[in-house]
Amino acid sequence: MASDPDQARPGAARALAAAWAALWAALFLLALRLPPDGREHGNLGQFLGRLHPLLVHGPTALLVLVPVLELAGLSARRPHLRLAAGWILTLAAAAALLAAFDGWLLAWSGGFRGRDVTRHMWDGVWLAALGALAALARGRRPRVAYPVVLAGSVVLMVFTAHIGGTLTYGEGFLSEKMPAPFRAWLGIPAPARAAAALTAAPQPAVRGGPGSTDPSNPAFYGLHVAPILSRSCISCHKPEKHKGGLRMDSLALLLLGGEDGPVIAPGRPESSDLLRRVRLPPSDDDYMPSDGEKPLTPEEIRTIERWIAAGAKGG
Ligand code: HEC
Repeated sequence: MASDPDQARPGAARALAAAWAALWAALFLLALRLPPDGREHGNLGQFLGRLHPLLVHGPTALLVLVPVLELAGLSARRPHLRLAAGWILTLAAAAALLAAFDGWLLAWSGGFRGRDVTRHMWDGVWLAALGALAALARGRRPRVAYPVVLAGSVVLMVFTAHIGGTLTYGEGFLSEKMPAPFRAWLGIPAPARAAAALTAAPQPAVRGGPGSTDPSNPAFYGLHVAPILSRSCISCHKPEKHKGGLRMDSLALLLLGGEDGPVIAPGRPESSDLLRRVRLPPSDDDYMPSDGEKPLTPEEIRTIERWIAAGAKGG
């Protein structure tokens, strides 16, 4: 039976390892010197970067396949599975490197920033390194190195994928609908009520109550204004991605404003930059929501205007 082809051609394997190390070093330097800083850098980078959520499925699937093949191949009836494992691991390491490069491109060019973004980026960089180390350790001494490094890569991969999912779908996406006993067993707190102000449907307690139509009632914000912002604006104005320095994931942050100062002048809709922007013609540079997102309806704009006119209060 043929031996491992990489070991049969040590020269080729060494060249591959050197090329890989150079690429990884480039990735490391990019992550270090050009971290995601919340500013956008070019459209082509963003276009290519947006392939990242697609690309990550490659290394994820390939990497979990490796221990499955190694273990299944222990059976005397399926030794061929172990032969495939080495090649698939090399492929997984290459795919992890590509996904990490593209993830950095997305974060840097797309105007991302924040603790989770940075952590996810470094997880990806180290995962690319660990995957390759596993490939390198396979079939070499000490024998224990390979299973340890492989297990480490799988654990780091799960962790990296989880933070990536959190960045994409929002905090608590996985646990929100989790059965309560299971959640308690894992020690995950119940979904925060504060988050409901922006993301959830109106609170039943005030629905239809006096707050529902009176814009000076603090409940008006959560009932009518927050859902509009949540639908049309928050994708670009949240912790991981505060375009223009403006965050809308809480009323306090919204009132704080962005790079150019406050965007809401309570009681004075005509002086509120936020309102000015949503009223502009969509072709205007300042128009919001930008990037061809669905414009606010006249009724939604009117709701925001009434809320600001009444003092921009919140409950
Ligand atoms: C597709 C991404 C995107 C969406 C969606 C979006 N914005 Fe923006 N927003 C930006 C970018 C980029 C900037 C910074 C550039 C600028 O000032 O025009 C910005 C800046 C702003 C600013 C100015 C902040 C400052 O102080 O400079 C306001 C106000 C604003 N947006 C309001 C909104 C509102 C209201 C919505 C929803 C109706 C919205 N945005 C939706 C991308 C977006």
